[in-house]
Amino acid sequence: MSGNLGFENTDTILSENRIFAPPSDAIENANITAYMKSKGFDDYEAFYKWSLENRFEFWEDMAKGLHWFEPWQKTFEWTDKPFFQWFVGGKFNIVYNCLDRHMQTPVRNKVAFYWEGDEGETRTITYEQLYTMTNQLAKGLQNLGVKKGDRVAIYMPAIPEQVVALLAVARLGAVHTVIFGGFAASALSDRINDAQAKVVITADGNYRGGKLIQLKHITDEALQDTPTIEKAVVVRRLGIDVSMQEGRDIYYDELLKDIPEDTIVPCEPMDSEDLLYILYTSGSTGRPKGVVHVQGGYGVGVYTTTKFVFDIKDDDVYWCTADIGWVTGHSYIVYGPLMNGVTSVMFESTPTYPAPDRLWSIVERFKVTTIYTSPTAIRGLMRFGEEWPAKHDLSSLRLLGTVGEPINPEAWMWYRKNIGRNELPIMDTWWQTETGMILISPTIRQPLKPGSATRPMPTIEADVVDKNGVSVGSDKGGFLVVRHPWPSQMRTIYGDPERYKTYWETIPDVYFAGDAATIDKEGYLRIQGRVDDVIKVSGHRLGSMEIESSLVSHPAIAEAAAIGKPDPVKGEHVKVFVILRNGFEPSEELVKEIKLHVRTTVGALAVPDELEFAPSLPKTRSGKIMRRVIRAKELGQEVGDTSTLDA
Ligand code: WT7
Repeated sequence: MSGNLGFENTDTILSENRIFAPPSDAIENANITAYMKSKGFDDYEAFYKWSLENRFEFWEDMAKGLHWFEPWQKTFEWTDKPFFQWFVGGKFNIVYNCLDRHMQTPVRNKVAFYWEGDEGETRTITYEQLYTMTNQLAKGLQNLGVKKGDRVAIYMPAIPEQVVALLAVARLGAVHTVIFGGFAASALSDRINDAQAKVVITADGNYRGGKLIQLKHITDEALQDTPTIEKAVVVRRLGIDVSMQEGRDIYYDELLKDIPEDTIVPCEPMDSEDLLYILYTSGSTGRPKGVVHVQGGYGVGVYTTTKFVFDIKDDDVYWCTADIGWVTGHSYIVYGPLMNGVTSVMFESTPTYPAPDRLWSIVERFKVTTIYTSPTAIRGLMRFGEEWPAKHDLSSLRLLGTVGEPINPEAWMWYRKNIGRNELPIMDTWWQTETGMILISPTIRQPLKPGSATRPMPTIEADVVDKNGVSVGSDKGGFLVVRHPWPSQMRTIYGDPERYKTYWETIPDVYFAGDAATIDKEGYLRIQGRVDDVIKVSGHRLGSMEIESSLVSHPAIAEAAAIGKPDPVKGEHVKVFVILRNGFEPSEELVKEIKLHVRTTVGALAVPDELEFAPSLPKTRSGKIMRRVIRAKELGQEVGDTSTLDA
């Protein structure tokens, strides 16, 4: 669990009242519209209560706002618990909903993305252009033999072609697995091998915050060890010299050069429950798990929450600053915004490059109305002072959001004051790679409390319980759970259904997220952080095990333990304890070498901020390192139950 983040400030602040857009009135006899017509939407609590009693009507209504090749026969099925299905029998393609259906509406000529690169270069891409680019790449991939069900790995910088890659793969009914561009070669090959990907799409390289990332070079290293890969497609982002392996590697532009611009590759009509993507995330033990999301339910859940949380309007310029390598980018850069036909900003660089007003400069120049970012970014920028946002006209903004980790009230207040001119609502959104969509967040109708993600989304039965699943009641801490599946919940862990089951079995019959939380008298939730060995560095998830396996693969290290420690900017940082092998002595040089080793085997995110050489580590009798004990000692907290400790 994260340290004390200062959650004592619980003053209620009323957000401005605005009506969010209910789903189109064109939906006949729509239950939500009928409810809103009779009761209005002033009272979120009343609507939420209605949604719990009308769960399936709610989701049917929302699903009808999207295009289906064939309607579903059954909204929900839960016969083989904890496995379930939504929109059973429906035929759907999420890409049809992101692109094709807009081609008959004014959205066609609307900007889909304003893109800004690391050095400030820009591109503007309309929905029609995105449609053309996607069809062309889909054809190119088809020519390489990619077909329905195949897995395609995407290891790319944040450029429009990255979005196109996801859409082209999904259009064909193939399954994408995006690997964050900051991961190292072995992390890339592990994921490619687990997914058994046939093709990888990458780039020659890119700059991020002025630093060169040699994507193709790293990919080459990874591909030495990936028997399933047949082809690598390489975008010339920089035009630098890279090695191209005859017969395997092909440049993106060459793949497309003979494909006419008006080529159309029809969307593959997918079963609702067919795979859309696999996204790897860290668990508390073992290797990263491939979280599986499907076409239909995922599409409906993400479409809906984008509408509700961000209160989407026609003339919005919406900006999610996340990376597509994480679920936030999948759901709220690519699929949610595109299904809603909204104009987005896409950004390749970092908040502080070249100066700490980069974000605010973009808000001003593109007249951004909605910004969705991370507490880490806000805390990082806070340090540079209020003068940086003050340099810019931020008056276009009407809604703020955060995601990925708890936001401390101080950062919340700074965000609201300096970016939100003391009046804009902040959507603190709680969710996970596994949940696919936002589950707990305010809508613009609710009173806010700094540091609280407030209330569950419609139909979401979130609760705080003890280990037996019994509600703890107000103001007591416990485990955050959800009692009923929602459409965009993960369906399984790729190749490991047993591991999926643990989510529903750790606490009987409910989905256990791995977080601790409290709930107050008004039902407001405060998420306090992970209760497992997942470390959240700048909102990104790292498993202790991943870092430890990297450490023990270094010749000097016999044993290692990694823990998360509270960090004023990053939320948590990594501290490692290592036991050296005989013949090795602690030294500054060795510390540097070990850090570099972690960087090159896992990635920059995992590099420990602190490293301690230890003579021994606390273990259970069966030899398991007790990170909980190490962490408690490190933070000066009570060690708790040590009955299994090897004395
Ligand atoms: C974990 C999930 C949500 C998409 C990006 C991260 C933490 C997430 C919040 C929030 C407090 C949060 C939880 C959760 N988390 N959002 N608003 N307040 N904590 O997805 O990498 O799967 O991580 O992030 O600990 O379990 P993820």
